Amino acid sequence: MINPGKFAVILSVAASAIFTVVPVIAETAADNYKLYCVQCHGTNMAGGGVNARGLTVDPRDHTSAEDMRVLSDEDLDLVLRKGGMAVGKSSLMPPFARLFSEEEIQEMVQYLREACQCTYAK
Ligand code: HEC
Repeated sequence: MINPGKFAVILSVAASAIFTVVPVIAETAADNYKLYCVQCHGTNMAGGGVNARGLTVDPRDHTSAEDMRVLSDEDLDLVLRKGGMAVGKSSLMPPFARLFSEEEIQEMVQYLREACQCTYAK
């Protein structure tokens, strides 16, 4: 039988361990992508992440110049901030405005451009 006092100590030690480990401050777009995007868009950025199988819409292949050049930087900015619904796409693409800083959004747009090696062309 664990007495309540001892249990509280164990709990607080466990909690502080969690809090010192979890807040990983992702500084670059690559880190953010690894944390927040790979589940759906895949570790190779080409769609087909581990969660993608359960989705009714395929996450965009970010390495496809053909798919990505139809999106302007403004489009990418908007979909990152407000999610798929804001651009008439699937709500399965979540909004990141509350999670990412202004700078992180801009960096992510550039990161996506590097991944597709494409620029906007209608
Ligand atoms: C829960 C799964 C999920 C996560 C997590 C996710 N996405 Fe998506 N994303 C999607 C889906 C599904 C689509 C396709 C929407 C459509 O075509 O209707 C999409 C589409 C996109 C598009 C293309 C939008 C367009 O107009 O075609 C971009 C850019 C994008 N995601 C970037 C990201 C980035 C960057 C992250 C991480 C910060 C991310 N996504 C995280 C599911 C996800």
